[in-house]
Amino acid sequence: AGRADFVVVANRLPVDLERLDDGTQRWKHSPGGLVTALEPFLRARHGAWVGWPGVADLDVEPFLDEDLHIHPVSLTAAEFAEYYEGFSNATLWPLYHDVVVPPVFDRTWWNSYQRVNRRFAEAAAEVSAEGATVWVQDYQLQLVPSMLRELRPDLRIGFFLHIPFPPVELFMQLPWRTEIVQGLLGADLVGFHRPGGAQNFLWLARRLAGFEPSRGQVGVRSRPGVVQVGDRTVRVGAFPISIAANDLDRLARTKEVQQRAKQLRAELGNPRRILLGVDRLDYTKGIDVRLHAMRELLAEGDITVEDVVMIQVATPSRERVEHYQEMREGIERAVGRINGEYGRVGHPAVHYLHTSVPRKDLVAFYCAADVMVVTPVRDGMNLVCKEYVASRHDLGGTLVLSEFAGAAAELTSAFLVNPHNLDGVKDALLAALNIEEAEGRRRMRALRRQVLTHDVDRWARSFLEALGTPHAE
Ligand code: UDP
Ligand code: G6P
Repeated sequence: AGRADFVVVANRLPVDLERLDDGTQRWKHSPGGLVTALEPFLRARHGAWVGWPGVADLDVEPFLDEDLHIHPVSLTAAEFAEYYEGFSNATLWPLYHDVVVPPVFDRTWWNSYQRVNRRFAEAAAEVSAEGATVWVQDYQLQLVPSMLRELRPDLRIGFFLHIPFPPVELFMQLPWRTEIVQGLLGADLVGFHRPGGAQNFLWLARRLAGFEPSRGQVGVRSRPGVVQVGDRTVRVGAFPISIAANDLDRLARTKEVQQRAKQLRAELGNPRRILLGVDRLDYTKGIDVRLHAMRELLAEGDITVEDVVMIQVATPSRERVEHYQEMREGIERAVGRINGEYGRVGHPAVHYLHTSVPRKDLVAFYCAADVMVVTPVRDGMNLVCKEYVASRHDLGGTLVLSEFAGAAAELTSAFLVNPHNLDGVKDALLAALNIEEAEGRRRMRALRRQVLTHDVDRWARSFLEALGTPHAE
């Protein structure tokens, strides 16, 4: 493959190599919101994607996937354990999500993180044409902007963080906080979901990466939205991500999806109300919160299993990381307990699916669900709630959404809840289950106005415009 003038660099490729039991392998769609958001945009621009194919100890040659140039970066089994499971997902992930579980600080992991970031930077440098735009993604690759700038000063480099950027006091715990801030400052533009994240980063840049310049010294200076690093200007801002809303709206209107939604309701025995949760099986998602609320509502007789049923899709994620294993066990125990105590033959209270649901089926789930329950204790954005809204062209369905999801700032017509307040969650669920049709339609109309006019194309274009590249159009 030739060199590209628009390159995305992310830990994961949009496709994931899966090894089957019979020893063969096949590509499947990668999990998570980052890929959902970026893939349609980059395909439309025939860009290149540098990333890891999802399996350790495997070299894959670059290839063309329809319109997309795929450049795999391989990880050894040790790097997978130290850089990916360790530093990315047992240090940075919990630290950036309000230390929901305690982050582990391990120097071996940090060394591996540096090495792997350098490998990604080298791969990006090799793939990029003269003067290309390179867009680096997410917490796994925060050192890539400065490493890449050293290798290729001709490039225009953007960075976007898909998860929350933490409060300053939490970030300061990180032994390698200065290196991370300096890594990010290699970009021309650093983007976050929320203005608060941008502000925290600006403060840290001034505090950690240098000093106020005086008498012509080279240093770091910041003012709202801008950091001056020597003679370079780094812009910093908030760019709330979104989904390909119109595609989803169209898909939801197809006969096939409508048929599947109907069939799903029938298979559930046509209950009066269906509650739906769709998440990667992650401790930030608050799956336990909604199960707890559901159990109390059943116990107190506010709902019955004949009347209300819950579907919880829990996509397997980071399965060897300890806190993920513990959480999975806890959730599966809770599901078993609810079904044991309140289920009847043919009427379980919770249908728990530990699997990844393909897009078409997922949209059918959205169309069938009366109440979408999204209760993370912390989430950068959360795309699932936006997908639900985009799917409800019929103006049916109600959204219960955590205040601690980035999406809450935009989706103000949802029932917003504090997931730490169990009574509040129960009240919101009951209100959503029993909402008057007119009120439900009014809320959904307002939500759709927001989601359909703020789609992923608008997000990407506004980021790239701020980066000042021709790829904005
Ligand atoms: N998703 C999917 N199949 C599943 C579960 C989730 O395709 O079984 C997709 C979902 O449609 C959404 C993404 O995974 O596009 C999850 O993104 P979100 O921002 O909600 O959470 P993340 O996983 O990135 O934390
Ligand atoms: C979130 C992160 C992504 C990540 C995805 C799936 O969306 O922001 O960077 O790719 O989760 O997680 P995984 O660890 O499977 O890549």
